[in-house]
Amino acid sequence: MPGLIERYRDRLPFAPDDPVISLQEGSTPLVPAPRLGERVGADVWLKIEGANPTGSFKDRGMTCAVSDAVRNGAEAVLCASTGNTAASLSAYAARAGIRGAVIVPEGKIATGKLAQALMHGARVIALRGNFDVALKLVREVCERQPIALVNSVNPFRLEGQKTASFEIVDEIGSIDALCIPVGNAGNITAYWKGFQEVGESPQMLGFQAAGAAPLVEGRVVENPETIASAIRIGNPARWEEAMAAMTASHGMVRAVTDEEILDAYKFLAAGEGVFCEPASASGVAGLLKYGAPEGVSRIVCVLTGHGLKDPQTALMQAGSVVPCEPDLGAVESAVLG
Ligand code: F0G
Repeated sequence: MPGLIERYRDRLPFAPDDPVISLQEGSTPLVPAPRLGERVGADVWLKIEGANPTGSFKDRGMTCAVSDAVRNGAEAVLCASTGNTAASLSAYAARAGIRGAVIVPEGKIATGKLAQALMHGARVIALRGNFDVALKLVREVCERQPIALVNSVNPFRLEGQKTASFEIVDEIGSIDALCIPVGNAGNITAYWKGFQEVGESPQMLGFQAAGAAPLVEGRVVENPETIASAIRIGNPARWEEAMAAMTASHGMVRAVTDEEILDAYKFLAAGEGVFCEPASASGVAGLLKYGAPEGVSRIVCVLTGHGLKDPQTALMQAGSVVPCEPDLGAVESAVLG
């Protein structure tokens, strides 16, 4: 499959001769989830966004944001990030041959994401403050300096991310509901835009971590806390648009606890064979907690990032390894348990 700008150029703001910075993102698997479906009494599919080149849905937005930045002659791109945007920016900046810088909350991003940003050669700045503070600061820096801001406040990010809705509709037609984690609220806004552009209106069911649930509580959360570090956000940039999407679609925004997130995370890995990162499991956690809404029988859960992004949380949650001496009897009894 070509990258998503090439695949969907007629529905994206790019002309045929515009530069395209791509890692052949998008076209991710939409996998039926029979065990999850059985538990909630509906047909459920998982949109595996961890299959994107840097392991998260951010690549959809980044191919567009960085292509636009290059079109405009930018020599550097900058973002605030809980990790995945940083990893994606770093890869696409490397691909474009421009400078990338990322500001992340110190000590609060998953190891895999940090490794990615550093390997791709971005300048990684560890801020002694949370994501919300970082986003405020990068907005100010980009007003003062000739640097392109590629957080999801950049409209090209949403343009790219809306293509996931196109893929769902192209592949399985109409669905009744979409379950999706909500952090800075760009992705749910983008999905809704995409669905609307193809004449679809599934219920948008957004889920936030209970310790970082500003949309649910209707107020800014000063010190957001959750094990799902990707969505540890207290003041989402796309607050109004996300709420509008949920209202217009007769959807809902609700909270799930860290424990519920981790249960869903383990269930997906062990029960469906799909390993996503903790934040990504919050949509499934919400579906399991609140059930399928009345009359809803076809549901897609968006799994936003790959499980390998956060090996530390995985190892903390998983069972332990079985030590074994190198002889046949010992190996046999270890295997048979
Ligand atoms: N899931 C994952 C794995 C994420 O990394 C994010 C956001 C979200 C869900 C929420 O998406 O912000 O559009 O509502 N991560 C951003 C980052 C904030 O910096 O990587 P959203």
